[in-house]
Amino acid sequence: MDSRTEALRKALDADLKEARTAREVEAVRVKYLGQRGGLITRLIKDTDFQSLSQGERRAVGVGVQELKSFAQGRIEKALLDASMAGSLEASYPRVDLTLPGVSPGLGSITPIATLQVFLEDIFRGLGFLVEQGYEVETEYYNFDVLNIPPEHPARDMQDTFWLDNGMLLRTHTSASQVRVMRKYGSPLRAIFPGRCFRFESTDASHENSFYQCEGLMVNRGVTVASLIGVMEMLLTQVFEQLVTVRLRPGYFPFVEPGFELDIRCLLCGGQGCRVCKRSGWVELMPCGMVHPRVLAAGGMDAEQSGFAFGLGLTRLAMMKFGIPDIRLFDSGDLRFYRQFPAAV
Ligand code: FA5
Repeated sequence: MDSRTEALRKALDADLKEARTAREVEAVRVKYLGQRGGLITRLIKDTDFQSLSQGERRAVGVGVQELKSFAQGRIEKALLDASMAGSLEASYPRVDLTLPGVSPGLGSITPIATLQVFLEDIFRGLGFLVEQGYEVETEYYNFDVLNIPPEHPARDMQDTFWLDNGMLLRTHTSASQVRVMRKYGSPLRAIFPGRCFRFESTDASHENSFYQCEGLMVNRGVTVASLIGVMEMLLTQVFEQLVTVRLRPGYFPFVEPGFELDIRCLLCGGQGCRVCKRSGWVELMPCGMVHPRVLAAGGMDAEQSGFAFGLGLTRLAMMKFGIPDIRLFDSGDLRFYRQFPAAV
């Protein structure tokens, strides 16, 4: 009997090794434990108990019972293994883990952001605060309080996108001037860089969304000389070379006097190109002395004076990095962005 049970154990293990699916395991169960004709079930039926002593009968009964338990345990485990393998296979696609992976690719920082961080560092070194204004503004801060009432022709120069609720996408960072004055009072030194919007057609140097960096200094005794001093120092650091600058009168209702600060075109060296519109000069930074009405709206007393400038950050980036067309910034062409360093 012992040799028969031992042979059945081995045969069962061998059959279960071959069985991959639950159905195949079930077939093994029927083969060994089936009610009719199962190999283990038949062990009892095939034994001639009449010819055995009482002790021998008991030994056969115990041996067969042990074999049954052994077989049931093995079959249950095989069933579990087969169904787990089946569900794993169903829920995971077959992957070849030896294949090389797909690199997600690193992004890069836009030259405008790089330049903005650089400017912020320079201005912080001069004791300027860095503030953030709002891209969605009220007509009051963008125009009215800057001495540009609704009927003023200067509004035509800065057409913008209006929202249904009467607010607008700011046309310039000057929209934050009075907010910042009211928030900090005098003495005040602050810059507020950010995105601006204009409803105008695009060309090599005009976009309908671009960046400016506003600067504001208010204190007793601030003059045009203070303005020129800060501008020269700034541009020398930005371009790391002597930059030829010119100031010409410029009109903005919120400054008096107002200027246009131009730099000699660094792309063509002043010879004339598409970016400087063949003039050799690039209008970079309108500026001027803050108008007394704007100072008063900002809560400043008559003793205070101040200068303000509105640096065209996008155009400055074009000059700094030699970018010949402003439309490249929003082209979505990653080859364009990958050319620039992460810091200047
Ligand atoms: C203004 O926006 C004034 N707020 C600037 C100012 C501030 C004057 C403080 C006085 C005192 P202007 O519209 O010229 O001015 O724009 C300022 C700069 O923004 C321009 O010199 C230019 O560099 C940039 N800029 C203006 N429009 C565009 C545009 N469509 N695309 C790209 N850059 C632009």
